[in-house]
Amino acid sequence: MKGIILAGGSGTRLYPLTRALSKQLLPVYDKPMIYYPLSTLMLGGIREVLIISTPTDLPAFRRVLGDGSDLGLQLQYAVQPRPAGIADAFRVGAAFVGRDPVTLILGDNIFYGQGLALLLRRAVREVTGCALFGYTVADPHRYGVAETDADGRLTRIVEKPADPRSSEAITGLYVYTNDVLEIARGILPSHRGELEITDVNQVYVNEGRATLHSLGRGYAWLDAGTYDGLLSASQFVQAIQHRQGIPIACLEEIALRMGYIDARTCRALGERHAHSPYGQYVLAAAPIGASA
Ligand code: TTP
Repeated sequence: MKGIILAGGSGTRLYPLTRALSKQLLPVYDKPMIYYPLSTLMLGGIREVLIISTPTDLPAFRRVLGDGSDLGLQLQYAVQPRPAGIADAFRVGAAFVGRDPVTLILGDNIFYGQGLALLLRRAVREVTGCALFGYTVADPHRYGVAETDADGRLTRIVEKPADPRSSEAITGLYVYTNDVLEIARGILPSHRGELEITDVNQVYVNEGRATLHSLGRGYAWLDAGTYDGLLSASQFVQAIQHRQGIPIACLEEIALRMGYIDARTCRALGERHAHSPYGQYVLAAAPIGASA
């Protein structure tokens, strides 16, 4: 399974914050936003990841994450010349995906909750079309909304409906079999001139090959794409980390737990940043005496 993080776009809702900085590099409390979607992919067992961004911003992502080898990952980078839509990720990323299945996550989506890693790993293992993740929101008209039949089967996804029939939004995490490349090649741009992910997903729904996993009460799904969303995401991360003393989206800790790196490597990474609380978390994740 390959992974793609879509981290381009224009970030117009966050202007002027995004005037010189990519939205997905803005801080969400103590780390750059892209750490969160990357951590989600890592928890799903995905180690080969393509980061797609704008021509101007891509070098900054490279500076932040490098080739991923420190974390036992293989990270690659690709330019999206203009924000041509979320489904454009499969055109830009076609060579990277090759013949593999692929999970796409939006660079400004933050997921948190016990069981998410297992749910994602199961979806990755079992996908026979596309796996989508639904989340009940107070403002469904801002999202692609899932409509289901009496048996809970997904029948339709409606993009930003004026009069939503359900409150279940489709989140920015999508797992696909390899034919998504062909489906994305076959769709036409919407009236906004973008290749809409909803059009891709609707093909799978029509073929009866789409599975909707509803993320229930125990989960947080945060969209950090507005001033308030960005601030709430930071406050959420701060509250959980302070209360529990365990970090959210600490990439080195996840790499260690997933067996991508050993304890000695994790300690070495922590020592590099030992003056920051983040570096101290990393050190604490691999205490001296832990098996290397
Ligand atoms: P959006 O939040 O829909 O768009 P945006 O990031 O351009 O922000 P705004 O609405 O404020 O102008 O995008 C969702 C995610 O997908 C976000 O991480 C950016 C990314 N994206 C791309 O990388 N390329 C694209 O062509 C689009 C439409 C989005």
